[in-house]
Amino acid sequence: MKIAIIGTGYVGLVTAVCFADMGHTVVGTDVVPEKIDKASRGIPHIYEPGLEELLKKNLKKGNLTFIHDLDEAIRSSDVLFVSVNTPQWKDGSADMVYVEGVARRIAENLNSYKVIVEKSTVPVKTSMWIKRTIDMHKKKDEEFDVASNPEFLREGSAVYDFLNPDRVVIGVESERARDILVKIYQKFKDRLLVTNIDTAELIKHASNSFLALKISYINLISELCEKTEADVELVARGMGLDPRIGGQFLKAGLGYGGSCFPKDIRALTRIGEDLGVNFDLLKESDKVNLRRIDVFMDKIKKALWIMKDKIIAVWGLSFKPETDDIREAPSIKVIKRLLKGGASLRLYDPKAMENVKQVFPEKSSQVYYAKSPYEAAEKANALLIITDWDEFKKLDMKKIKKLMANPIILDGRNIYEPSRIRELGFEYYSIGRE
Ligand code: UDX
Ligand code: UDX
Repeated sequence: MKIAIIGTGYVGLVTAVCFADMGHTVVGTDVVPEKIDKASRGIPHIYEPGLEELLKKNLKKGNLTFIHDLDEAIRSSDVLFVSVNTPQWKDGSADMVYVEGVARRIAENLNSYKVIVEKSTVPVKTSMWIKRTIDMHKKKDEEFDVASNPEFLREGSAVYDFLNPDRVVIGVESERARDILVKIYQKFKDRLLVTNIDTAELIKHASNSFLALKISYINLISELCEKTEADVELVARGMGLDPRIGGQFLKAGLGYGGSCFPKDIRALTRIGEDLGVNFDLLKESDKVNLRRIDVFMDKIKKALWIMKDKIIAVWGLSFKPETDDIREAPSIKVIKRLLKGGASLRLYDPKAMENVKQVFPEKSSQVYYAKSPYEAAEKANALLIITDWDEFKKLDMKKIKKLMANPIILDGRNIYEPSRIRELGFEYYSIGRE
């Protein structure tokens, strides 16, 4: 059985490499030629811990290839995983134009029975559209099945998550497709959940929206903590000790970013509206999340009064640690507002700076990309922490204090213990605690 991965972005590349590592024969393809060229040479176009080693290892083994030709990838494979992006449309719904395009190409190249698997996050009922599209455009009377196998990978630990899943959800409507997918995931047979396709599609949107809701909830609680003597870190710990709640995804901060939560919560809201189910609950989560940036900007203004001509160090640009991904990253929104206020910025991130340079070019007189967190802190009137990279927790903060013009820290992720950092002489503001 040969597997094709169509769209080797964050999800597709990890999926291709991990399937190969599980012993399958895999071909990856993508419309962006450089991604294929790089992958073929063993260089991922993204930063993801462990990915490069695994890519190199499996290229060498010979059961993983990358090709430009989508038609060839389709024709030569039995199972096609579709992991093209599903961007947000103006009204919040998922734009399925790429998925539809791929479905048409599959139809044109259908030369034997194939299973077409939705890996991208898609609205419930998408499989019906894919099926209809392939039926309408197929040139040969070959049989096929559509299936859903949503990904639950977290960027930054995607390889680990793929190879150690909590659950593998498979949505099918035929025994034939079911048997094939169960065989592919044989290794995780104790964690398989086989459902119908609508259910599998919905599990993904329902899970991501629920996690986003959990984050917005604790962020809302953090606003309350700031108006009282309560400490959000301890409130979260106290809540999380109840196994019915669980401690994960209760970290208050600058809100959720990334390619999934902001988009998925809006998409599920739209799906609900289209099907007559009111999801204002999720709209509120979105509002709370957007407000996180306002709340943080107010703190910066309170600490600095006037932004114009201030030098501000910014640590952490990726939307979360251990990735170079800046899609919907809070850093971008914060930086835009600081620049508008007339501040000069000294930016640092362990992995995401090249991506941020595409948004805020290096030649701008207001933006400087520092080589280290120490260099970023030089002569700064304040230091902002936007992403909780581990690196920032291990620095010599006495040295940082000496480097700064004014030792003011605005910590958007609560990475320091307030009393300890204040002992060093910093003015310290964090989220939802004194
Ligand atoms: C994934 C899921 O697919 C998406 O549904 C989810 O909401 C977010 O996570 P991701 O892998 O992060 O998307 O997106 P991206 O890195 O943009 O990867 C998509 C890839 O598909 C890109 O490399 C793009 O070049 C490729 N693509 C897109 C194609 O090969 N063909 C197309 O027609 C469109
Ligand atoms: C998410 C889902 O976790 C994953 O299952 C799905 O397949 C894709 O979407 P990802 O977006 O990569 O993964 O990262 P995640 O770790 O979920 O974090 C998302 C955002 O929420 C980040 O911006 C992160 O900083 C934020 N977050 C997370 C919080 O603000 N607080 C938390 O407690 C957890």
